[in-house]
Amino acid sequence: MKNILVTGGMGYIGSHTCVALCEAGFLPIIVDNLDNSEIWIKDRLNQITNQEIPFYQGDCSDKSLLQRIFEENKIAGIIHFAANKAVGESVQNPMKYYHNNLNSLLSVLEVSQKNDCNNLVFSSSCTVYGEPDKLPVDESAEIKQAESPYGSTKIFCERIIQDFVNASNNYKSVLLRYFNPIGAHSSSLIGELPLGVPSNLVPFITQTAAGLREKLTVFGNTYNTPDGSCIRDFIHVVDLADAHVKAFEYLFAQESKICESVNVGTGKGASVLELIHSFESSTGVKLNYEIGERRSGDVEAVYAAPKKAKTLLNWEAKLSMSDALKDAWNWQKTLSK
Ligand code: NAD
Ligand code: WQD
Repeated sequence: MKNILVTGGMGYIGSHTCVALCEAGFLPIIVDNLDNSEIWIKDRLNQITNQEIPFYQGDCSDKSLLQRIFEENKIAGIIHFAANKAVGESVQNPMKYYHNNLNSLLSVLEVSQKNDCNNLVFSSSCTVYGEPDKLPVDESAEIKQAESPYGSTKIFCERIIQDFVNASNNYKSVLLRYFNPIGAHSSSLIGELPLGVPSNLVPFITQTAAGLREKLTVFGNTYNTPDGSCIRDFIHVVDLADAHVKAFEYLFAQESKICESVNVGTGKGASVLELIHSFESSTGVKLNYEIGERRSGDVEAVYAAPKKAKTLLNWEAKLSMSDALKDAWNWQKTLSK
């Protein structure tokens, strides 16, 4: 069985990916400082997977901790999720984002190479495309000036990995550019755990539906889209998790160094209003919402050309937006109890 070191494995996407790795016969080994996750996720993961997933609590910028993990385990590959991800906070406190997101990557690269572990999957984001010139957006699209320090860290990290691979003998990496992950595991044992007031759409919707927020504000209905609200590519987090497994299957089959960026999206754009209506029809819950002002920095429309994921990784999204919204709602109900 191959061990995969999962940095940030207690978080939203990381936890679902640990489940997918176990299902595919890999053993995830988690390192997480619990900065944006809860210790009880560990028990939930053990419950879903019916196995004991090794967990190291600590910061993955700490090279001595990473070195210890490599000494205590034979690691075949790494997924680097660990990062801060709140766009608004990154504008207020850019240094936190540059320190954490860049230093953690640098440590992971250095320690993995030192230990001859040459397979890395990196969590990137469609944020690197900004407002794309052409839709659907494919991987050859121009990388735009980021709207936020958070977005800049993703662009810088991609560049660092590319340079690192170029200079290496045999380092291999897939940069997965996630579109908008939503939903939760069908068991409702793990899901998204936003801190404070959610800035992302779906957690705000489920909290409003649960009565924790009074109403949802739709940030603008005057965009140049069919219903005037923004368009995104909402992808079920369980499908997204699966893309990481496929990325390793691809990496383990490569003989020489490589660095590939791959979109992970459904290929279908849905508007904010469409998503709200889909939430109402798939859960039977009426949502209190109003149309408000545009949110600064928002992209009008972005959705993936997912062809490269299919041809290179043999991955494509299987679950629907309605599945994801039902799962997100079931998860919210367990949190509200
Ligand atoms: P999350 O905050 O739920 O998970 C990140 C985890 O990393 C948390 O458990 C946190 O405690 C941990 N962490 C942060 N810094 C750490 C450090 N230095 N050392 C150890 N652990 C650390 O976020 P998520 O939504 O699961 O996102 C995972 C990755 O995917 C991030 O890199 C994020 O930027 C990227 N991403 C997320 C989205 C999204 O919408 N959720 C979209 C595109 C890309
Ligand atoms: C989606 C749509 C909002 C909340 C962010 C990051 C991006 C990536 C994914 C990490 C937008 C609208 C939202 C609300 C609303 N993360 N909305 N009312 O902005 O597409 O992307 O998460 O890499 O980098 O920027 O996601 O969920 O915040 O918003 O109308 O209360 O929902 O305007 O059109 P976004 P989101």
